[in-house]
Parts: sequence; C-alpha cells; structure tokens
Amino acid sequence: MEESVRRVWAALGREAGRLSATSLRDLLSNEPHRAEHLTFDAADLRVDFSRQLIDDRVLEVLGALAVAVEVEEQRDAMFAGEAVNITEDRAVLHVALRARPDEQILVDGADVGVEIRRTLDRMAQHAAVLASGEHRGATGQHIRDVVNIGIGGSDLGPAMAHRALVDVASTGIRAHFVSNVDPSDVAGVLAGLEPASTALVMSSKTFTTQETMANARTALRWLVDGTGVSGDDLGPHLFAVSSNVDAACAFGVPKDHVFPMWDWVGGRFSLASAIGFSLMCAIGEHNFRELLAGMNDMDRHFRQAPLSRNVPVLMALVGVWNRNALGYSSLAVIPYLQNLGRFPAYLQQLEMESNGKRADRDGGRVDMATCPVVWGEPGTNGQHAFFQLLHQGTDVIPVDFIGAARPTAVGLADNDVADQHEKLMANLMAQAAALALGAPSSTDNPRALGEHRAFPGNRPSTTIVMDQLTSRTLGQLVSLYEHKVFVQGCLWGINSFDQWGVELGKILAGDVLRHLADPSAATTLDPATQRMAQWYLSRR
Ligand code: F6P
Repeated sequence: MEESVRRVWAALGREAGRLSATSLRDLLSNEPHRAEHLTFDAADLRVDFSRQLIDDRVLEVLGALAVAVEVEEQRDAMFAGEAVNITEDRAVLHVALRARPDEQILVDGADVGVEIRRTLDRMAQHAAVLASGEHRGATGQHIRDVVNIGIGGSDLGPAMAHRALVDVASTGIRAHFVSNVDPSDVAGVLAGLEPASTALVMSSKTFTTQETMANARTALRWLVDGTGVSGDDLGPHLFAVSSNVDAACAFGVPKDHVFPMWDWVGGRFSLASAIGFSLMCAIGEHNFRELLAGMNDMDRHFRQAPLSRNVPVLMALVGVWNRNALGYSSLAVIPYLQNLGRFPAYLQQLEMESNGKRADRDGGRVDMATCPVVWGEPGTNGQHAFFQLLHQGTDVIPVDFIGAARPTAVGLADNDVADQHEKLMANLMAQAAALALGAPSSTDNPRALGEHRAFPGNRPSTTIVMDQLTSRTLGQLVSLYEHKVFVQGCLWGINSFDQWGVELGKILAGDVLRHLADPSAATTLDPATQRMAQWYLSRR
C-alpha cells in the first residue's frame, strides 16, 4: 500500500476515535440541517446518510481516501474497456450492456454496442413471438411457461428482478427459475407445468456448471417423457444463454435460440445481458429496456457526479467507514418492499463474491478487513424475527433500509393498499429512528426494567427511497450497488471481478463424486470426508 494511502487510513482511525465520544443522537439533535445536508439524489433514488456516524470531517477524510486510491481513474479505466479484471486479464463492461447508442464503448478497438444491440433485438423478437403465441412447441401447442435453468449470476439477478417486477409481468408468459442441484428444486418447478407448453432456457456463461447441466439434463428428459417427442426434435422448447455457443448447440439448442454472453461480463453483473431473457419473456421488451435505462441512469450519475455527491461512491465510503474504522463486520439490507424479497440474496453474491477477498491486486495479502457479511429479509417481517438483535444485540449491524413512497400491489381495493403501504413506510421510518436514537434506560423510563428495556441506539443506517418500485428504479438500485461494490474494491485494493474462492469446493466435489462411484479406488480425500462418504453410501 502506498504511503499516501496508508496516511489516509491512519487519519480515518483517528476520526473514529474522535467520534467515539459522540452519538447519533447528539449528531442528529446538534445539527438541525443534518438530514438535508446528508441526503443525496441520484437519478430517481434518494439516499439519506444522516443516520450514519459521520460528520463533515469524516466525509472529508473519506473523500481523501477515494482520491488517494484513484477511484475516478479506476472507474474511467473500467468504462474505457481496460482489462481491470487483472487476474483474468479481462475488461469489465457490464455498463456497455445498458449504454445508450451514442455512448460508444470499445473493447480492443471494436464497438461492442453493435453486437449488444443485435442480441437485445433478437431477444425481444423471440420474447414477442413467444408472447403472441406464434411460437409453437414440438406438438403444436403455444409455449406458456419458460424455465430459466442457471445458478449464481445466471439465476439470482433475473429471479430477483422477476419477483420485484411481478406486477408488470403481464405478457402471458410465466417465468420460473431452477437453480439448486437438489432435485427437489427442479421437481418442484416442473410439477406445476405442462411439458408441451414449456420452454427451457439454459443460462450458463460457461455451459459447464455442474448444477445447471444436471438440471438441464433432468428437465430435458422430463420434456422427452412428457411430450413423447425425441430430444432431437425438441428444438422449439430449448433456448440458451452462454458464451459457449458450441456447447449449447451440442446440447440440442438450435443455433438461432442461443444468445451470446461475453467474457467482459461477470456472472453477478450480468442481469442486463441475455441472462435476462426469461425475465424479458415475462415482463416484456418495454419493461426490460426500462430496467436497462434505469441502470444507465445510475451509470451516468456514477460517471459524472463529483466524488462529494456521487452516491455509489458515498455508499462505498460509508460502508468502508463502518467496516474498517468502526469495525462492524456485517451489513443488513432490509427492503420495506415485499417484491424485493430476493434482493438481499442477489446482493450476497454481488457483494460477497466480488469483495470477499484477502488478496490485493498485486497478489499479496490485504492488511485490513474487506467485505462484511451481507444479509437481510424484507421488513416488516424482519422486525418480528431478527430485529431484536439489531436493537439490543452485542454486535452493531449497520442497516440499509429501502422503501418507496407508493405501493405496487395490484388486485386489491385502493384504500386497503394505501392504508397498508402507509403502515409499511411508518415502520421503516420508525425502525431507522429507533436504531439511531435508542431509548434511555430504566432511570429515565418508568416502563423499563433495567437493561432489558434499554435501547442503546447509536446503530447506523442508510435509507434509500424512491417514488415507486418500477423497472426503471429497480435498474437504478441494481446499478447503485454494482458501482458501490466496484468502489469498495478500489478502496480495499482488491480485484472485485474474479472468484477464485469458489474453485476448491468444485474440485473436491468432483473427487467426492468419483469416490462415491468407486469407493475401493485410491483416494486423496481426508479421513473425515471418507468416513462421511462411508455413512452416506450405507444409507443412500
Ligand atoms: O461458482 C461461481 C460462479 O462461477 C458464479 O460466479 C457464476 O455466476 C455462477 O457460478 C454460474 O456460472 P455459469 O453462468 O457459468 O453457469
């Protein structure tokens, strides 16, 4: 780490010491304009940092850190198509997937926009033909259901967005998502479907992922058995998204049903790519393009706003402040929007697969803590489950609250929806206030019972709000977190775009499978694993 960067980190440590003498309650009551001062707009999102344990001096030092690690230069290198994924020698250009036609993005001198737009148009064409009923299955029936078979970035993004946008999924095509190699996942999804009117979308950048290939083979057999049509003639039911087009075709997918991926799109950053095909089938081309437009809104903000008002940068800095200066090792993301129920799971991959690392960009060891554990569930449900710990537990866990001014629920009386939504938002606001302010202990509170009824407060949160959860605002939200993750990678000096940490387990799973197939053969498995394998073989 360069000396100039080390000095800023040391200054941050001193700021944490200085602020340990104060509290959020003090900061909020002593600074009448604090909420106004610490609330920032980015596209259609409003982000309120006033309940973070920060002040102007802290923000100044955090800003100096962003400058010292050259966040802007690294951002510009990413947008310019440089190979910022250094361990895989790849450009990182998910931003190109949602760029406007006038925003030319080059990789090795070639404008990637041409191929991106061609792919989007092909996706839209196929999605429209499916929705219109013109596309027939092998036995002549309309396709009504599409099953996305993928895992990780080839599942979490589209599955999260599909749930978030369920109220606009009105094309008549129903999308379903299968990911786990546990056969109960694929069995559960297929159980409710009719093979003759179902299409499979094999989504796998590599087309080698064990879980996806196993589910794809099982689902293909289900199609053969259910339609009575041989695998060779099931082309109308098969689609694929992959950078391994040959493997997809070898599986039986007609070439014009394969949508490409590119090595400059990481799996967890791929929602705007053809990985969103099943999603597009359900929500339609217009909504899918709105999602992309929302991502582009935030990309432009990230690219153009000065550091001091750049919301993804500020979110990243505040996260690093909490993680490294204050020592908080976890981040709860609580959407007060039931439709964002899968958003925390989606973020777990985005944040933890990107920044859960201990190697720095030079291959040495990072000498500080990196990504916190990210988790969450929608409010108000969480309030009746784990919020006890957030309020009174011994660990302080910063929270990102996410809410909307207007509901999206359809099919109920307007008054009921408005009334319930108001309760939802009241709870969001109340929880953020309660965590920050706490409540005095028994001496000041007649109803309290010593520490049992005391709320320590001083528990930081960020509140992100929008008018309504739409395709556009969802795109903005996704891009906001993507860029936050990128900036945190810069601040920690790590490469956010590889995932070597998932490899060892995959190799060992292969070893275990071989051992289970032939237990008498020599194995390098450790004794504990062999013993467990023995137990499994005796019971399966
Ligand atoms: O195992 C991790 C991972 O490589 C993720 O990064 C990726 O999103 C997921 O597996 C799925 O990979 P693929 O799209 O190649 O099947």
